[in-house]
Amino acid sequence: MNTKWKDHVVPDIQTLNDKRVIIRVDWNMPITDGAISDTSRFDVTVPFLKELAFAGAKIVILTHFGEKGESLKLIADHVMKSLSFISFTTSQNIEELEQQSRTLERGTGMLMENVRLFNGETENSPSLAKSFSLLGEIFINDAFSVSHREHASVVGLGRIMPSYFGPTFTRELENLTKALTPEKPALLIVGGSKISTKLDLIQQYLRQGVPVFVGGAMVHNIWKERGIEIGKSLYDPNYKLPESFVNHPLLFTPRDVVLTDGTTVAFNKIPVDGVVVDCGTESVAMVDKMIQESKTVIANGPLGLYEKGWRHGSELILTSLAHAKAISYIGGGDTVSVAHSLHLLRQFNFVSLGGGAMLDFLASGTLPGIDAVTK
Ligand code: 3PG
Repeated sequence: MNTKWKDHVVPDIQTLNDKRVIIRVDWNMPITDGAISDTSRFDVTVPFLKELAFAGAKIVILTHFGEKGESLKLIADHVMKSLSFISFTTSQNIEELEQQSRTLERGTGMLMENVRLFNGETENSPSLAKSFSLLGEIFINDAFSVSHREHASVVGLGRIMPSYFGPTFTRELENLTKALTPEKPALLIVGGSKISTKLDLIQQYLRQGVPVFVGGAMVHNIWKERGIEIGKSLYDPNYKLPESFVNHPLLFTPRDVVLTDGTTVAFNKIPVDGVVVDCGTESVAMVDKMIQESKTVIANGPLGLYEKGWRHGSELILTSLAHAKAISYIGGGDTVSVAHSLHLLRQFNFVSLGGGAMLDFLASGTLPGIDAVTK
């Protein structure tokens, strides 16, 4: 576990007066019908940006948006409506950007165009990181949710500049560090489609003696290797699970499942042409009991084919967790979206803004973006 992050929390903010501060945020927000449908990732960063401006810093803001990189215009419009001291610059010429950063007034900021539009960002190009570093004197990483990526604006900058973690990042570290070695009895509930992306995480908890309930399509790989018929259900044919894992006594899987025609069958009675899309009510009852018996519960990933509307299992289990006594940590885009639609977000002890970053941190106790700042 990387515990050195505590030495890299932003210093006294007053010392940033008149300093050019580069801050990496994650304003990669979902867009529905041409509008931002969830502004949480922006909202959490607002108080700190206001503090920086109030302290007289000159703020240079970096974020990505979308996988490949499209213009940040829509996000920028939203940002500038809320924070009038920020302007948007579409230039991708580093000399011009450096000039703009040097002419910033104290207490103002410039939002740069999507970092993924700059050549070398996703390849973690040292020369791009060097170019970005010309825009400021210190670097603050406040983007936990992208810090599992070895990208120039995350890892590259952290390695070559005096670097710190912002408050959004620190909040994630404080909470998820507790979830790494949870107070027992504990429970991990994990779902989603690809078991390969979550195996390290599951093993990390099994090693600590924490039971794990696996739902979603990833359970089909486990059943397939146990010799259970999964019909035509989704699974990852190229991935072979270790035998010690497949038969681990603390690994729990659904007792019953819902098929595409809406019928529920026992997990070992899936017809050869059946397609599993959700977990059934007996499984929900089993998990509910496990939740009630736990002091800590960590949940990440949908338990059904969420994107096609099969969210009943996830909804029931998240509702149970929201009202349970257990300390609860949830994360992952789909999980948070289900909790949001049920108006349950405030009922959890901690809601991580990271999907992949939360998984990687809980699996290993660190992330490339953390090591870049602390080492
Ligand atoms: C996320 O949405 O999980 C982060 O913004 C990272 O985005 P990415 O998966 O496109 O790197």
